[in-house]
Amino acid sequence: MSQPTIPRHVAIIMDGNGRWAKARGLPRVAGHRRGAEAVRNAVESAAALGVRYLTLFGFSSENWRRPADEVSDLMGLLRHYLRSEIAEMHGKGVRVRIIGDRARLPADIVKLIEGAEETTRANTRLDLIVALSYGGRDEIVAAARALAEAARTGAIDPAAIDEETFARHLLTADIPDPDLLVRTSGEKRISNFLLWQCAYTEFVFLDVLWPDFGRREFEAALAEFGRRERRYGAVVG
Ligand code: IPE
Ligand code: IPE
Ligand code: MG
Repeated sequence: MSQPTIPRHVAIIMDGNGRWAKARGLPRVAGHRRGAEAVRNAVESAAALGVRYLTLFGFSSENWRRPADEVSDLMGLLRHYLRSEIAEMHGKGVRVRIIGDRARLPADIVKLIEGAEETTRANTRLDLIVALSYGGRDEIVAAARALAEAARTGAIDPAAIDEETFARHLLTADIPDPDLLVRTSGEKRISNFLLWQCAYTEFVFLDVLWPDFGRREFEAALAEFGRRERRYGAVVG
């Protein structure tokens, strides 16, 4: 049998924390807490399975519209996670990077993020990219704005703007596009995640809620990916 194809870059929409809690009669924050534990697990699985880039959707630009209490709980968990997990990630050779609109995040969290990125910069086992306050349209608009500004000042010729130029102005400039996108919780939508980058990504939707996503579910998603035939618009066979 041939070796299974391991996706180089896996992106995950970690959905279903609220439903996980509700099913147990617990407050939503309990689901988010368990969700944070599942993150640790997913990072370990990714590294062990030979995935090189793992991008996790942690908080969307639209999630700011949730009740203030829930947003505050999520920021609290994030703060706790950044304080307690970074040393361990660093020890495991994980490079941590955050994409999203930092201007909307609390200042102390931005500091923690900068510290985590700085500490882990040289690690090469796994790139863990966490999307926080992230929106795909937001990202594309920001790139368009930067290019328009560069054109206005004469730094760039509008006729020379191609896909590569554009991609270099995204938050994912030096990160390859995801090969596999996994969404948990049974929802089958992209919810403004990595819109540009997912042009040819394989999508796998799982019925499991994010707090229940473990090694077995990760392997199942990779197995499904291995059965896909990627064509990129070309004729195969
Ligand atoms: C995902 O779980 C975590 C975030 C979006 C922050 P949800 O909070 O969306 O859980 P459901 O979808 O309500 O179950
Ligand atoms: C997407 O989940 C965002 C994250 C998982 C962080 P949502 O729960 O916010 O998405 P919708 O509202 O179901 O589309
Ligand atoms: Mg949700």
